[in-house]
Amino acid sequence: MEVRLSDATPMPRSGAGETAPLTLTDVSKIYEDTAALQNVSFSIPAGALVVLLGPSGAGKSTIFRCVTGLTRPDTGSIEVAGAEINTLSGRALREARRNIGLIFQQFNLIGRLSAIKNVLGGRLGHTSTWRVVLRLFERRDRQLALANLDSVGLLDKAYQRADSLSGGQQQRVAIARVLTQESQIILADEPVSSLDPESSETVLTILKAISRERGIAVLCSLHQVDLARRYADRIIGLRAGQVVYDGLAKELTEQALDRIYRRDGADPDMADQAAMRPLERASA
Ligand SMILES: Nc1ncnc2c1ncn2[C@@H]1O[C@H](COP(=O)(O)OP(=O)(O)OP(=O)(O)O)[C@@H](O)[C@H]1O
Ligand SMILES: [Mg+2]
Repeated sequence: MEVRLSDATPMPRSGAGETAPLTLTDVSKIYEDTAALQNVSFSIPAGALVVLLGPSGAGKSTIFRCVTGLTRPDTGSIEVAGAEINTLSGRALREARRNIGLIFQQFNLIGRLSAIKNVLGGRLGHTSTWRVVLRLFERRDRQLALANLDSVGLLDKAYQRADSLSGGQQQRVAIARVLTQESQIILADEPVSSLDPESSETVLTILKAISRERGIAVLCSLHQVDLARRYADRIIGLRAGQVVYDGLAKELTEQALDRIYRRDGADPDMADQAAMRPLERASA
């Protein structure tokens, strides 16, 4: 089965009036004295790679947790493929979650299993429990998993243990896994933070190709502004839980970056906490 990314048939894009796969409306989440999210609203259309930028603590991961239903926002609504995620439970919630593919900074593969077995994990939401228990995957699922490993350039590693692969290769296996899940949305929380520059470029190139060619809505948080500029179709800038920029990547000005990272020094309390972490560790 030939489904390399460049040959993949694009899914129908949502046209005017159609619902975007992911829409947040006025989402707020307050933790005791921290407003993690304040009236956050945006939509991610099919076929777009949208990058979330923002300093440490801006609320990026909180957005991902709210979208997957792990955290319930205090107010606002989140529509995932037409379903309001926070009103769902049980089977309906599981089905909505099947529409969300997750990619993590630490890859989250099962190290002792082969690449293909990890990729087949993407079918779990589609497979009956007894088949999962017996690890009986259908022939079609195996073909799909192999085709997706091929599309991320790892067909030759299909039967290698995941923990023997490099970080960049492991992240590509994780991408093949979400492709095998056949979700409409991919959420990637800092997918390149553990990777070297070259692997980071490869992973982002693949994510971009996936969004374009398979019509998937990709929301990806990054800490690297230059990568965001080069790979994103659109950038959403978060600062202290608020959207302070939402526009085309090519229109992200220095002023907009100042708003996101407050680089004028006017707000020292909000200095990038990521930069302070090594100090905290040293003094702990
Ligand atoms: N369970 C929680 N309890 C209390 N505060 C929380 C909780 N989860 C998140 N927060 C706070 O909400 C804010 C946003 O956190 P979040 O993890 O979303 O930031 P982030 O943008 O992902 O940061 P980073 O770039 O460091 O990953 C932070 O101030 C954080 O301390
Ligand atoms: Mg985070």
